[in-house]
Amino acid sequence: FGEVTPRLTVIGTGYLGATHAICMAVQGYEVLGVDVDQSKIDRLTAGEVPFFEPGLPELLTKALTSGRLRFTTSFAEAAEFGDVHFICVGTPQMAGSHAANVSYVFDATRELARHLNRRALVVGKSTVPVGTAADLAELIATTAPAGSEIELAWNPEFLREGFAVEDTMNPDRLVFGVASAWAEEQLRASFAPMIEQGSPVVVTDRMTAELVKVAANSFLATKISYINAMAEVCETIGADVQDLATALAYDSRIGGKFLKPGLGFGGGCLPKDIRAFAHRAGELGVGQAVAFLHEVDAINQRRRTRAVDLVRELVGGDLTGKRVAALGAAFKPNSDDIRDAPALDVASTLHRAGAQVCVFDPAALDNARRAHPELEYGESLLETLRGADAVILLTEWSEFQEIAPEVMGSVVAHRRIVDGRHALDPMAWRAAGWEYRALGRP
Ligand code: UGA
Repeated sequence: FGEVTPRLTVIGTGYLGATHAICMAVQGYEVLGVDVDQSKIDRLTAGEVPFFEPGLPELLTKALTSGRLRFTTSFAEAAEFGDVHFICVGTPQMAGSHAANVSYVFDATRELARHLNRRALVVGKSTVPVGTAADLAELIATTAPAGSEIELAWNPEFLREGFAVEDTMNPDRLVFGVASAWAEEQLRASFAPMIEQGSPVVVTDRMTAELVKVAANSFLATKISYINAMAEVCETIGADVQDLATALAYDSRIGGKFLKPGLGFGGGCLPKDIRAFAHRAGELGVGQAVAFLHEVDAINQRRRTRAVDLVRELVGGDLTGKRVAALGAAFKPNSDDIRDAPALDVASTLHRAGAQVCVFDPAALDNARRAHPELEYGESLLETLRGADAVILLTEWSEFQEIAPEVMGSVVAHRRIVDGRHALDPMAWRAAGWEYRALGRP
């Protein structure tokens, strides 16, 4: 680590914070995880990751065993312990608005700053509206005890759910938004193993660092909606968006990543981030520059409506009383996250249209049950499929892709399937006597 190895605190032990704390301890840092939620702290201390993320439980055990990772609810303890404090609390969409709710970021920073009476770097990692860092720096200046030298830096996080460990240990890039050379030095020391292993570092000001995050997520969302807009065109003229995407992807300037057509994006990040960005840009007087993000959102929502229409068409025009097996609830595979999940949105729209919907998901069933008690849930894939008038694949879990058309065909009432994620081979399913429909394909 060079000469000084900073001690790290991670404030907020949700998805982002818990992953960051665990990975940093595994990398060799002394880490203290902080949260106001005692039950989260208890579970993590007992070695239990409170959400689904491949590989993370094993790393938590490793980190706890090493003695380098502890958890607390005490901000005073955190202030005493840490040299570098990462703020990792959530910024959900505000109820009744497109704006991001930054109150948890302000609460956590205020609570920490009150106790900081030695030199420290506070690092924002949460996704925030541009300009938040400036307000937080001001808050720290007015809250920290006189004489303490506290600085604020911005270091956005780009991890994907399902690949959180890989993305944290081996990031595509590190962005350091700093106001001084000292802050940059602290950040370099805090990410020494990643830098040594070749992750590029972009050093910039705090505002640009805040912007990188929302600009990246907006670009990714736009890429998905672009191909889904092409799917709409394909539907109208009878062309095939899957072949179109394959051909586009061979152009290395376009590339195939995030060009997968289907039900579109969901989750706790992309939908909320594009809305919050458009809202913030409006406040800043540059709403016009990102007005296209409203269209990106609208295209994404229309895919969900189209998927419902495809099921309706398959069952003969009226969903009333029809049994529909809905495969998937999570917003993407290898996750139990149902925030803004296209899958559950489609399932509940089918339910409201009169269908008898039975949902199955390998990891997200408990979360789905809590959020949508009106839906039926199957205990297994085959039980969910039994007697179905139509099947819709909503989340491309591998177990849904691996089941043979014949096996599925033997339990359903009618061999009709909508492939909402282009996850199945149409030839194989049609050959097995299925009526197969997909978004943007003839
Ligand atoms: C996203 C970004 O990819 C991360 O870089 C970022 O750090 C994170 O948000 C965040 O802001 O915290 P995540 O929400 O975990 O990560 O999920 P993605 O893998 O990006 O998928 C988002 C959605 O897009 C999913 O619903 C997925 O099914 C959909 N998607 C993705 C498509 O419909 N087509 C594609 O080609 C790719």
